[in-house]
Amino acid sequence: MLEVKGLRTYYFTLKGVVKAVDNVTFSLGKGEVLGVAGESGSGKSTLAWSLMGYVPPPGRIAGGQILLDGEDVAKMSEDELRRKVRWKKVSMIFQGAMNALTPVFTIEDQMAEPFIIHMNMTKREARERIVELLKEVGLDESFLRRYPHELSGGQKQRIVIAMALLLNPELVIADEPTTALDVVVQAQIMNLFKKIKKEYNISMIFITHDLSIIAEIADKVAVMYAGKVVELGTSEQIFLNPQHPYTQGLLKSIPKLRSKEKISWIPGTPPNLVTPPPGCRFHPRCPYVMDVCKRDEPPMVEVEPGHFVACHLISRR
Ligand SMILES: Nc1ncnc2c1ncn2[C@@H]1O[C@H](COP(=O)(O)OP(=O)(O)OP(=O)(O)O)[C@@H](O)[C@H]1O
Ligand SMILES: [Mg+2]
Repeated sequence: MLEVKGLRTYYFTLKGVVKAVDNVTFSLGKGEVLGVAGESGSGKSTLAWSLMGYVPPPGRIAGGQILLDGEDVAKMSEDELRRKVRWKKVSMIFQGAMNALTPVFTIEDQMAEPFIIHMNMTKREARERIVELLKEVGLDESFLRRYPHELSGGQKQRIVIAMALLLNPELVIADEPTTALDVVVQAQIMNLFKKIKKEYNISMIFITHDLSIIAEIADKVAVMYAGKVVELGTSEQIFLNPQHPYTQGLLKSIPKLRSKEKISWIPGTPPNLVTPPPGCRFHPRCPYVMDVCKRDEPPMVEVEPGHFVACHLISRR
């Protein structure tokens, strides 16, 4: 249903061009969940905004295609995006959205707006559908009349998830949906996502810096580093047979219960995306760096069916 080809989304700032998403390619089938992982600043949110056709200025899509059921979202006008894509086909749970609920509106009022605007529903029809959706995310009717400040973090997140489902989208993008929550609530919200995945057969893109969360839900995983996808594969391939040194480093940084192994982290910090390192962008931090890595960009190589890696260690093998 979704095919992203050579996507480039750049921010044209006074300090230079920030290549936040640089030549990203992947595809997603109906009902599939793609996990996107990577450190802060790797371009995950920028990728998500691009898919909604909404990149905050001074950013814009500078190249590539986003084919949604065969139609290119990257080439659509604002009007077309609004009529055909946003919330109807693709909806998004924005990073930090649970803290951006409008404080002066009741839950009913915030949720009813899209129905009244997009679907020409009456207030009463909208209410019926909202009660259904609230049930779906584990909240009862009494929440209709509550204000955001009367809700716990987990309850607010449930509201935001229900809002993403309002217009029955084909694809839901969730950007760090559990980051601000404690572990118990995090687990409850993950169970809710799993239920939604099963019941609605919806496609999802699940963005997080935490690979252990992705393991629970994703069919496929894309690992991003400094604006590029460095490894892409099924969850089994990425978790059991990671090939890129960056993916291996990310996996080693997940703590294991009762393990004597010290938790390691990849030393160094991600590069500035105005002047990223030449060759492989990961080379300054890579424990296996070779001369070629400083010079040439590594090509994406398919190491087994559906498993792609951009690393000179692989392409030289
Ligand atoms: N409005 C903007 N103007 C200029 N640069 C931006 C803007 N928004 C993001 N960037 C830059 O684009 C890059 C990618 O940012 P993005 O927010 O997509 O990363 P992220 O992977 O979602 O990070 P996080 O995990 O912290 O949410 C970063 O280098 C960031 O500084
Ligand atoms: Mg982000």
